[in-house]
Amino acid sequence: MTQDELKQQVAKAAIEYVKGESIIGVGTGSTVNFFIDLLEDIKGNIDAAVSSSIVTTKRLEKIGIRVIELSEVDQIGVYVDGADEVNPQKKMIKGGGGALTREKIVAAVSKKFVCIVDDSKCVDVMGKFPLPIEVIPMSRSYVARELVKMGGQPVWRENYRTDNGCEIIDVHNLNIMEPMELEKIINNIAGVVTVGLFALRDADVVLVGKGTNVITY
Ligand code: A5P
Repeated sequence: MTQDELKQQVAKAAIEYVKGESIIGVGTGSTVNFFIDLLEDIKGNIDAAVSSSIVTTKRLEKIGIRVIELSEVDQIGVYVDGADEVNPQKKMIKGGGGALTREKIVAAVSKKFVCIVDDSKCVDVMGKFPLPIEVIPMSRSYVARELVKMGGQPVWRENYRTDNGCEIIDVHNLNIMEPMELEKIINNIAGVVTVGLFALRDADVVLVGKGTNVITY
Protein backbone atom coordinates (compact mmCIF):
# COMPACT_ATOMS: atom_id res chain seq x y z
CA MET A 1 0.00 0.00 0.00
CA THR A 2 1.22 3.51 -0.71
CA GLN A 3 1.47 6.08 2.08
CA ASP A 4 -1.55 7.88 0.65
CA GLU A 5 -3.57 4.65 0.68
CA LEU A 6 -2.62 4.13 4.32
CA LYS A 7 -3.74 7.67 5.11
CA GLN A 8 -7.00 7.12 3.26
CA GLN A 9 -7.57 3.94 5.22
CA VAL A 10 -7.22 5.59 8.63
CA ALA A 11 -9.28 8.53 7.46
CA LYS A 12 -12.08 6.10 6.65
CA ALA A 13 -11.77 4.47 10.07
CA ALA A 14 -12.02 7.89 11.73
CA ILE A 15 -15.38 8.54 10.07
CA GLU A 16 -16.89 5.94 12.42
CA TYR A 17 -15.91 8.14 15.39
CA VAL A 18 -17.77 11.21 14.16
CA LYS A 19 -21.03 9.49 13.29
CA GLY A 20 -23.71 10.84 15.61
CA GLU A 21 -21.70 13.98 16.47
CA SER A 22 -23.31 17.26 15.48
CA ILE A 23 -20.24 19.46 16.04
CA ILE A 24 -16.81 18.07 15.19
CA GLY A 25 -13.26 19.41 15.37
CA VAL A 26 -11.11 19.04 12.28
CA GLY A 27 -7.32 19.16 12.23
CA THR A 28 -4.87 20.04 9.49
CA GLY A 29 -2.61 18.12 7.15
CA SER A 30 -2.50 15.62 4.32
CA THR A 31 -4.04 12.78 6.38
CA VAL A 32 -6.89 14.97 7.57
CA ASN A 33 -7.48 16.08 3.98
CA PHE A 34 -8.51 12.50 3.16
CA PHE A 35 -10.82 12.58 6.17
CA ILE A 36 -12.40 15.83 4.96
CA ASP A 37 -12.99 14.29 1.54
CA LEU A 38 -14.91 11.44 3.20
CA LEU A 39 -16.93 13.83 5.37
CA GLU A 40 -18.77 14.89 2.26
CA ASP A 41 -20.75 11.63 2.33
CA ILE A 42 -22.05 12.22 5.86
CA LYS A 43 -22.25 16.01 5.87
CA GLY A 44 -26.02 15.88 6.24
CA ASN A 45 -25.54 14.58 9.79
CA ILE A 46 -23.06 17.26 10.83
CA ASP A 47 -24.35 20.65 11.96
CA ALA A 48 -20.98 22.38 11.86
CA ALA A 49 -17.24 21.97 12.29
CA VAL A 50 -14.60 23.85 14.23
CA SER A 51 -11.49 24.15 12.13
CA SER A 52 -7.83 24.26 13.16
CA SER A 53 -6.54 26.30 10.21
CA ILE A 54 -7.47 28.53 7.32
CA VAL A 55 -6.57 25.74 4.87
CA THR A 56 -8.91 23.29 6.60
CA THR A 57 -11.68 25.88 6.80
CA LYS A 58 -11.50 26.37 3.03
CA ARG A 59 -11.62 22.64 2.36
CA LEU A 60 -14.58 22.14 4.69
CA GLU A 61 -16.52 25.01 3.19
CA LYS A 62 -15.78 23.78 -0.31
CA ILE A 63 -17.66 20.55 0.39
CA GLY A 64 -20.51 22.40 2.07
CA ILE A 65 -19.72 21.96 5.76
CA ARG A 66 -20.44 25.01 7.89
CA VAL A 67 -17.45 26.20 9.91
CA ILE A 68 -18.13 27.95 13.20
CA GLU A 69 -15.96 29.84 15.67
CA LEU A 70 -14.73 27.87 18.65
CA SER A 71 -16.30 30.43 20.99
CA GLU A 72 -19.73 29.45 19.71
CA VAL A 73 -19.51 26.07 21.49
CA ASP A 74 -18.67 24.93 25.02
CA GLN A 75 -17.34 21.58 23.98
CA ILE A 76 -16.61 19.53 20.89
CA GLY A 77 -17.46 15.82 20.94
CA VAL A 78 -14.68 14.53 18.72
CA TYR A 79 -11.55 16.09 17.23
CA VAL A 80 -9.81 14.27 14.37
CA ASP A 81 -6.26 15.20 13.49
CA GLY A 82 -2.98 13.76 12.23
CA ALA A 83 0.46 13.87 13.85
CA ASP A 84 4.08 14.02 12.82
CA GLU A 85 5.09 11.48 15.49
CA VAL A 86 3.13 9.51 18.04
CA ASN A 87 4.47 7.29 20.80
CA PRO A 88 2.86 4.27 22.53
CA GLN A 89 1.56 6.55 25.31
CA LYS A 90 -0.41 8.53 22.67
CA LYS A 91 1.80 11.62 23.09
CA MET A 92 2.46 13.41 19.83
CA ILE A 93 4.60 15.87 17.96
CA LYS A 94 2.46 18.09 15.76
CA GLY A 95 2.92 21.28 13.79
CA GLY A 96 4.79 20.10 10.74
CA GLY A 97 2.12 21.95 8.79
CA GLY A 98 2.32 24.98 11.08
CA ALA A 99 -1.17 24.76 12.56
CA LEU A 100 -0.10 23.64 16.05
CA THR A 101 -1.56 26.50 18.09
CA ARG A 102 -5.10 26.26 16.78
CA GLU A 103 -4.82 22.48 16.85
CA LYS A 104 -3.88 22.58 20.51
CA ILE A 105 -6.76 24.90 21.33
CA VAL A 106 -9.33 22.76 19.50
CA ALA A 107 -7.91 19.62 21.14
CA ALA A 108 -8.24 21.25 24.57
CA VAL A 109 -11.95 21.83 24.06
CA SER A 110 -12.62 18.38 22.63
CA LYS A 111 -13.89 15.45 24.62
CA LYS A 112 -12.21 12.87 22.44
CA PHE A 113 -9.05 13.31 20.33
CA VAL A 114 -8.78 10.77 17.53
CA CYS A 115 -5.29 10.78 16.03
CA ILE A 116 -4.95 9.33 12.52
CA VAL A 117 -1.54 8.32 11.17
CA ASP A 118 0.18 5.91 8.86
CA ASP A 119 2.68 3.65 10.59
CA SER A 120 5.69 5.75 9.54
CA LYS A 121 4.66 8.20 12.30
CA CYS A 122 4.84 5.67 15.15
CA VAL A 123 7.96 5.95 17.32
CA ASP A 124 9.07 4.75 20.75
CA VAL A 125 10.89 7.97 21.60
CA MET A 126 9.85 11.25 19.98
CA GLY A 127 12.29 13.80 18.63
CA LYS A 128 13.51 12.51 15.32
CA PHE A 129 10.93 14.76 13.68
CA PRO A 130 12.03 18.36 14.39
CA LEU A 131 9.84 19.80 17.14
CA PRO A 132 7.89 22.84 15.86
CA ILE A 133 7.54 25.80 18.20
CA GLU A 134 5.40 28.83 17.35
CA VAL A 135 6.91 32.05 18.68
CA ILE A 136 6.15 35.75 18.79
CA PRO A 137 8.48 37.13 16.07
CA MET A 138 10.52 39.44 18.36
CA SER A 139 11.36 36.52 20.67
CA ARG A 140 12.75 34.25 17.97
CA SER A 141 16.48 34.56 18.71
CA TYR A 142 15.98 34.49 22.46
CA VAL A 143 13.85 31.35 22.31
CA ALA A 144 16.38 29.75 19.97
CA ARG A 145 19.22 30.41 22.47
CA GLU A 146 17.19 28.85 25.27
CA LEU A 147 16.60 25.76 23.11
CA VAL A 148 20.31 25.45 22.39
CA LYS A 149 20.92 25.40 26.18
CA MET A 150 18.53 22.43 26.28
CA GLY A 151 20.61 20.55 23.72
CA GLY A 152 18.43 21.24 20.67
CA GLN A 153 19.37 22.66 17.30
CA PRO A 154 16.78 25.29 16.44
CA VAL A 155 16.15 26.12 12.80
CA TRP A 156 14.02 29.11 11.83
CA ARG A 157 11.26 28.21 9.33
CA GLU A 158 12.24 30.97 6.96
CA ASN A 159 9.66 33.17 5.21
CA TYR A 160 6.83 31.40 6.99
CA ARG A 161 4.02 32.95 9.04
CA THR A 162 1.36 31.01 10.87
CA ASP A 163 -2.36 31.76 10.66
CA ASN A 164 -1.75 33.79 13.83
CA GLY A 165 0.96 35.96 12.27
CA CYS A 166 3.74 34.29 14.24
CA GLU A 167 6.93 32.45 13.31
CA ILE A 168 8.06 28.86 13.74
CA ILE A 169 11.28 27.38 15.01
CA ASP A 170 11.88 23.68 14.26
CA VAL A 171 14.09 22.07 16.88
CA HIS A 172 16.29 19.21 15.73
CA ASN A 173 18.08 16.56 17.76
CA LEU A 174 15.93 16.52 20.87
CA ASN A 175 15.56 13.14 22.48
CA ILE A 176 12.19 13.54 24.13
CA MET A 177 12.25 11.17 27.08
CA GLU A 178 9.83 13.16 29.29
CA PRO A 179 7.32 14.76 26.91
CA MET A 180 5.03 16.23 29.58
CA GLU A 181 7.92 17.86 31.45
CA LEU A 182 9.44 19.20 28.25
CA GLU A 183 6.11 20.61 27.11
CA LYS A 184 5.81 22.57 30.36
CA ILE A 185 9.41 23.81 30.23
CA ILE A 186 9.21 25.03 26.64
CA ASN A 187 5.80 26.59 27.23
CA ASN A 188 7.43 28.67 29.98
CA ILE A 189 10.02 30.33 27.74
CA ALA A 190 8.99 33.96 27.20
CA GLY A 191 7.80 34.46 23.64
CA VAL A 192 6.69 30.89 23.04
CA VAL A 193 3.11 30.77 21.83
CA THR A 194 2.82 27.00 21.55
CA VAL A 195 5.15 24.03 21.51
CA GLY A 196 4.17 21.24 19.13
CA LEU A 197 4.36 18.64 21.88
CA PHE A 198 0.91 17.26 22.59
CA ALA A 199 1.69 15.38 25.78
CA LEU A 200 -0.38 17.09 28.49
CA ARG A 201 -3.45 16.83 26.26
CA ASP A 202 -2.62 13.70 24.32
CA ALA A 203 -4.77 11.57 22.01
CA ASP A 204 -7.55 9.40 23.37
CA VAL A 205 -7.51 7.06 20.42
CA VAL A 206 -4.78 6.47 17.85
CA LEU A 207 -5.67 4.86 14.52
CA VAL A 208 -2.64 3.57 12.64
CA GLY A 209 -2.68 2.51 9.00
CA LYS A 210 -0.36 -0.48 8.71
CA GLY A 211 -0.44 -2.74 5.71
CA THR A 212 -4.06 -3.53 4.94
CA ASN A 213 -5.11 -3.04 8.57
CA VAL A 214 -6.01 -0.20 10.85
CA ILE A 215 -4.59 -0.72 14.32
CA THR A 216 -6.38 1.05 17.16
CA TYR A 217 -4.79 1.86 20.50
C1 A5P B 1 -0.33 20.47 11.14
O1 A5P B 1 0.23 21.57 11.73
C2 A5P B 1 0.20 19.23 11.79
O2 A5P B 1 0.07 19.16 13.15
C3 A5P B 1 -0.36 17.99 11.14
O3 A5P B 1 -1.44 17.49 11.83
C4 A5P B 1 0.68 16.96 11.16
O4 A5P B 1 1.84 17.57 10.67
C5 A5P B 1 0.34 15.76 10.29
O5 A5P B 1 0.30 16.12 8.95
P1 A5P B 1 0.26 15.08 7.79
O6 A5P B 1 -1.00 14.32 7.93
O7 A5P B 1 0.32 15.91 6.54
O8 A5P B 1 1.46 14.24 7.94
